[in-house]
Amino acid sequence: MSTFPVAEHVARMKASSTLKAAQTAAALREQGHSVIDLTVGEPDFDTPQFIKNYAWEGLQKGLTKYTASSGMKQFTEAVSSFYKNQFGAEFSPGEVVASCGGKQALFNAACTLLNPGDDVLIPKPYWVTFPEIATFCRANSVFIDTEATDFVLSADQVSDAMTEKTKLLIINSPSNPSGRVIPPAEMRKIIETCADRGVYVLTDECYLFFAYPPGEVFTSASLPKELRDFVCVAGSFSKTYAMTGWRIGYTIANEAWSKAMVKLQSHSATHPTSFVQYACARAMENHEASVAAVNAMLAEYERRRNWLIPALNAIKGFNCGMPEGAFYAFVDVRDLLGGEYKTSANVAEAMLERTYTVVTDGAGFGAEGFLRFSYATSMENLHTAIERLGELFGRKEAQAA
Ligand SMILES: Cc1ncc(COP(=O)(O)O)c(C=O)c1O
Repeated sequence: MSTFPVAEHVARMKASSTLKAAQTAAALREQGHSVIDLTVGEPDFDTPQFIKNYAWEGLQKGLTKYTASSGMKQFTEAVSSFYKNQFGAEFSPGEVVASCGGKQALFNAACTLLNPGDDVLIPKPYWVTFPEIATFCRANSVFIDTEATDFVLSADQVSDAMTEKTKLLIINSPSNPSGRVIPPAEMRKIIETCADRGVYVLTDECYLFFAYPPGEVFTSASLPKELRDFVCVAGSFSKTYAMTGWRIGYTIANEAWSKAMVKLQSHSATHPTSFVQYACARAMENHEASVAAVNAMLAEYERRRNWLIPALNAIKGFNCGMPEGAFYAFVDVRDLLGGEYKTSANVAEAMLERTYTVVTDGAGFGAEGFLRFSYATSMENLHTAIERLGELFGRKEAQAA
């Protein structure tokens, strides 16, 4: 069989390490093993019933045809009104473009801005897709190490990393994988630093609603227009309303950038599914119900976090800070390295082979020595995982005794 000549920029892209780990978990489960899958960042909740009802209502209304490439008017207006009511953000529906999930929102934004050879600043640890988007655009990823600031990006770090070639900074707060949240004042400083130098900022706000109190939920869409002109917010319904399979998200960006994204999208996906747009528009119009649904999920994630982090820290060799947002524990396992395990991937392999507990290695996020545990899973699964890992690595109390 001849070798297929995959385009160079696509050949250079790496497969998603989070999806790979999830596939390993699924394969082991098929073989009959009792697998605890802590890999995928997918809410274990069902989509709220009222949103499903709205989708059905949309179908019954006959919303089964093409919409505008930018999305239905009702959708873009609903995003604009929701952000105004919830965050006091002022932008027009013309600055909103509906997309097929946050991923397409990010691709739309990057592909309409970047030229080959541009530099893209990406703080480490990063979500696996960010450098791959840069690669796809034939741009260069320039990583910013944030370990010194406990994985919270600062404006000074951004300023130090900038060069003449810097075109874009990609931020994700609350962060996947670290769970850290950039404080609103620092976020503003970061964006001011970029705007001063004519650098654009793509802010992935897919975990926007999942900041644990007293942490503040902050969207860059609420910044004044002169700063917002340099920002594209990528939003998603996937995590917010447990709708990963529905494939819907959006961008909020200045009109010129939005127009370019609509042009690109009109030749690719065209738009996200019509009645899904309708369901999301209706959900946002029903502000009270949608906020209540998110808050119920947030409270449950917080309950799991509060149990899980001390339990992880009680395991020998595990060190984990308290996540301030999203639903991931990012565990430093470097104390385990040097002897039996050379890398965090070796630790993850041992967990998989000896306990059937599957997590994602930090190396894929640019943080070798760390493991990411998703706690978007039941308490029962978390208890079982901790029990198995305690047996494999031992417990700190036992060490002290
Ligand atoms: C940081 C981050 N951004 C974006 C996405 C994409 O979400 P979706 O394309 O489902 O909206 C994810 C999904 O895991 C994510 O973790």
